[in-house]
Amino acid sequence: MNTALLKSAALTAAWMTLSPWAGAQTAPAAGEKVYQQLCIACHATGVANAPKVGDRQAWKPLIAEGQVTLTAHGWVGVRAMPAQGGDPKLGVEDFARALAWMVRSSGGTWSDPDPETLKAIRKEARERLQKQSAARRKLLDDPAR
Ligand code: HEC
Repeated sequence: MNTALLKSAALTAAWMTLSPWAGAQTAPAAGEKVYQQLCIACHATGVANAPKVGDRQAWKPLIAEGQVTLTAHGWVGVRAMPAQGGDPKLGVEDFARALAWMVRSSGGTWSDPDPETLKAIRKEARERLQKQSAARRKLLDDPAR
């Protein structure tokens, strides 16, 4: 066995021991990976009142908004939540998977979105973006502001 392989096996073992969510899975799922790389920065400790992963009370009303609405609004950005979690290259599907993973870790049961759900999320996000830019254009065109 080569040393690089041994090293990566050791790292995986260390990750499995350290991660509070380690268990059934042997490798992080795509959604969890995005969470670990990005969302964790704010959603592990609750930076700026970000709902903490695992805080069922905080997530309950958010989950109740439904997967299409919450995913679309989160991706577009809402209040202190930066668009795409702050990554200009993060697409809807990866964002949706990360969020579904966060929800599953916080009392919900969302699956990774199927093609139909993804389509609905994109539609909602597109409408939301159009509303936002229309509102901003209005400000631009308002001579009093
Ligand atoms: C820079 C910090 C930061 C990062 C990174 C971040 N978030 Fe957030 N997020 C927030 C904050 C703060 C809020 C609370 C927003 C508010 O209510 O003002 C929030 C709220 C949310 C909400 C609830 C939105 C709503 O409609 O109330 C979702 C969903 C969400 N984040 C998903 C994610 C996902 C998925 C990622 C990673 C791809 C991510 N966030 C990365 C700071 C962050």
